[in-house]
Amino acid sequence: MAKHTIVTLPGDGIGAVVLQQAIRVLDKAGFDANYFHGDIGWEFWCKEGNPLPQRTIDLIEKYKIALFGAITSKPNDEAKAELNPDLQGKGYTYSSPIVGLRQHFNLDICIRPCKSYKGNPLNFVRRGKGNTIDEPLIDVVIFRQNTECLYSGVEWTNPPAQVYQAMMTHPKFIEIFGKVSVEEISISTRIFTKKATIRILMAAFEYARKFKYKSVTVCEKPNVIRETSGLMWKLAREIQKSSFSEIKLLNTNIDAQMMWLTKNPEDYGVIVAGNMFGDIASDAFAGLIGGLGFACSAQFSSDNIAVFEPTHGSAPKYAGYNVSIVNPIAMIESACMMLDYIDEKKISAGIRKAIAEVIAEGKVRTYDMMKMTGRPDVIHNGAASTVQMTDAIIAKLK
Ligand code: NAI
Ligand code: MG
Repeated sequence: MAKHTIVTLPGDGIGAVVLQQAIRVLDKAGFDANYFHGDIGWEFWCKEGNPLPQRTIDLIEKYKIALFGAITSKPNDEAKAELNPDLQGKGYTYSSPIVGLRQHFNLDICIRPCKSYKGNPLNFVRRGKGNTIDEPLIDVVIFRQNTECLYSGVEWTNPPAQVYQAMMTHPKFIEIFGKVSVEEISISTRIFTKKATIRILMAAFEYARKFKYKSVTVCEKPNVIRETSGLMWKLAREIQKSSFSEIKLLNTNIDAQMMWLTKNPEDYGVIVAGNMFGDIASDAFAGLIGGLGFACSAQFSSDNIAVFEPTHGSAPKYAGYNVSIVNPIAMIESACMMLDYIDEKKISAGIRKAIAEVIAEGKVRTYDMMKMTGRPDVIHNGAASTVQMTDAIIAKLK
């Protein structure tokens, strides 16, 4: 019997492509696991009216750990049109299976490390003193609350009477929207709970302590969004004061953070934010280390369910290529986060070292690393394919 059991959720488009490559690397690095495939994504929406079938939920419930590629989501009208004709008009509505997965298992802690590899031609550079060029190494880890905030799906267009009446009890609502007819109003709610906010903050502080980061930065907007951002900032101060006094607590507003990150990215360590600002901050910092081809993530629930996935989506425009051109590193790095979690740190360290060597050597680079526009002919112009990049990493494994 294998030492570990992992559920694989390839999903759509390049999700399936990069997941397959990550498993090749895991095998070659000596990771001893059985894999169980779980159906997820657009195909299952079209065929069954459910992109996250119950059998997949059961599989994850049973084995607790999943490696996920990416899924495709399309707008409501396209979702309706592509649904199996036998199911149309029967009340099926599409919703994103990855958001569904996060909500079902309460995968409320999302960790997104952004660390630069030396020699990556996509690393952030800035002008230094005396017209020199600086290349500050980035080592930032974003903690994103993964279930609440603007992504919880509690929203309405033309809200029902009870909701409208409740809103009309708020003086600001009356002042700004009171004269607008209800049919013309769309509402998306930004709800934070104390429990979930404490969980993401505690996870961020504990990580900072464990890995010796000097600061935790709350990246929200408490001066304007006073209730939800305000709650996170207030709780962060209390937690820091009572339990983490050796760690510096910083407060940045999301808009200013987007500006500062290209001025002084090396000043940040752990960043913690709600769902939407965490999403924004993690893409922004990922841009400093090479973009979506390098951005990995892990998601954890309070009952030991963990799902590891690249930050990128299914990139449908590259999905049908005979020879895949996308960068598998984000997915392979996500698999390394899984190895860390199940205490296979020797194997993850070996894989990360192999990736670092390939990048530093600079002989094998996917199209994104060569600053090319993604097209099938990038291969003829010297870019490595997805498989060639994976082969190069495998060749470096000791
Ligand atoms: P995307 O992340 O799929 O692609 C955006 C662009 O980033 C691509 O066109 C490509 O230029 C680049 N890119 C992404 N992954 C790359 C890789 N591994 N190597 C090199 N370049 C890479 O985001 P987009 O285009 O906004 O969404 C496409 C589909 O993916 C949509 O249906 C969306 O709903 C879904 N999506 C799914 C996610 C998930 O499954 N977790 C996350 C984000 C989007
Ligand atoms: Mg995102």
